[in-house]
Amino acid sequence: MSRSRLFGILFSGFLVLSLVGVAQALTPLEELGKFLFFDTNLSTPPGQACASCHAPETGFTGPDSEINDTQVAYPGAIHTRAGNRKPPTAAYGGFSPNLHFDEEEGLFIGGMFWDGRATGWTLDDPLAEQAEGPFLNPLEQANPNAKSVCTKVAHSDYAGLFEQVWGPGSVDPVHGVELMYERIARSISAFEQSQDVNPFTSKYDYYLEGLATLTAEEAEGLALFEGKAMCSACHISEPGEGGLPPLFTDFTYDNLGIPANYEIPFYRAQRKYNIDGYEWFDHGLGGFLATVPEYSGMAEENISKFKVPTLRNVDQRPYPDFVKAYGHNGYFRSLEEITHFYNTRDVEPWPEPEYGETVNHDELGNLGLTPEEEAAVVAFMKTLNDGFVPETVAKSAGEAERLLLTRSVDDSRAVFRFNLASGSHARLDVYDLRGRRLARLADGWIGAGTHQYPFATDRLASGVYFARLVADGQIATTKFTFVK
Ligand code: HEC
Ligand code: HEC
Repeated sequence: MSRSRLFGILFSGFLVLSLVGVAQALTPLEELGKFLFFDTNLSTPPGQACASCHAPETGFTGPDSEINDTQVAYPGAIHTRAGNRKPPTAAYGGFSPNLHFDEEEGLFIGGMFWDGRATGWTLDDPLAEQAEGPFLNPLEQANPNAKSVCTKVAHSDYAGLFEQVWGPGSVDPVHGVELMYERIARSISAFEQSQDVNPFTSKYDYYLEGLATLTAEEAEGLALFEGKAMCSACHISEPGEGGLPPLFTDFTYDNLGIPANYEIPFYRAQRKYNIDGYEWFDHGLGGFLATVPEYSGMAEENISKFKVPTLRNVDQRPYPDFVKAYGHNGYFRSLEEITHFYNTRDVEPWPEPEYGETVNHDELGNLGLTPEEEAAVVAFMKTLNDGFVPETVAKSAGEAERLLLTRSVDDSRAVFRFNLASGSHARLDVYDLRGRRLARLADGWIGAGTHQYPFATDRLASGVYFARLVADGQIATTKFTFVK
């Protein structure tokens, strides 16, 4: 069966399910991915889930303040082992294109991981390819093989949901390991692309919609971010055409000249994991490109370049003193510190870069920001945490109800559904991934109750799209894949 047919069937499945009439935040596929993401039984020994290193309360990065403050790299299911990098956020990753060389710009764009090695080249979905990794990584969930992961899923409480989503006979670790393992990864990817993980509900999102105001300091920080501090050269802060919210990354790679962080236990790991000991340095994108015949000639110029991470949720933490680590090796333990580094790398005595040959000297190193300006940039970054509740909503609803945009997709149309607690101006737009608006389905006053908007998909090319609703002082975003 071709993959596209598979998805066609899958989406008809969604339609049937949604006709049952229960408005739900997640589709069954996303719900399945959520079970998998939080299941601590999917490691050997048990105890480690994806969420052990990517937790919601920290914006889907590492949830342990002490680890973030010390060794940065998280221990695996086998506790004496640890990786060599800081967990980046697993949120907003679904917007990354496959890794490719952009001829016009002359640089690499896309892919997943700090070094881009989950390229998207085999599954056409970098997130799904990424999700196939950790279960089998001896430094992470450490399962011996894909079959053992599939067997655990087959014995889980959600095995029935798996079969409901992927069809009768799909839970078969004996005959269909490869396909079942791929589906596990695709389910996780679907969850990682869901409204749960990518809500676009930061103060900045509300600000862009005219539903919140920035403080004077935050506004100054924004102006600096886009001006004198040059942050937006890589962390894109402007909406795309038609209002697509910015992702705060351009998915390119760079070497900022961050010093080595010798607190990472990897320097002291067994020789079979690290033969170079303290001489080891992280080769980043260049290290991966060296393994790809087509691109190995460009490996050297990309050594120690790392993917520009999104800054969404960069300050998301469970309590104010909770420490988060920043950068691929977690060298920085606060937003103040990394901002000071951008500002003063070349004019204050910072330690040597981890690898000096490819360091970017054009856009950072000596920005000439005053301490107040550094603080303003940090204040602005703090407006990027999801879960902001605008004052109007907080007042009228007491406890804010999240606006939910559910959707179902079949071969000829998508249907968007949402519920309004009271009459409101509502605007509903559909975008492609490059931020072009394809349709405006609603724009005007709409009464209280449940509303439904069909969107014809017959002229739509296969791909990923998303819809965004602004109503009742709130914002909701949902993403969908369409395959002909
Ligand atoms: C032991 C901690 C740990 C566990 C468990 C873990 N991860 Fe990660 N994750 C990391 C680290 C560290 C990286 C960065 C690794 C690198 O770049 O080489 C990462 C990278 C990622 C990324 C890439 C984000 C980006 O923008 O490049 C995603 C997505 C992700 N993990 C999702 C998952 C999923 C899904 C699972 C479960 C199947 C999982 N992780 C399990 C630590 C972990
Ligand atoms: C030339 C591109 C570029 C510019 C300009 C830039 N950044 Fe970055 N940023 C990156 C890259 C690449 C990384 C990851 C580097 C690494 O880990 O080695 C990063 C990482 C970060 C991180 C860490 C995020 C995390 O999850 O670990 C923060 C915070 C950050 N940048 C903020 C800023 C601010 C503030 C500015 C402006 C003062 C700025 N950046 C300017 C490319 C850039």
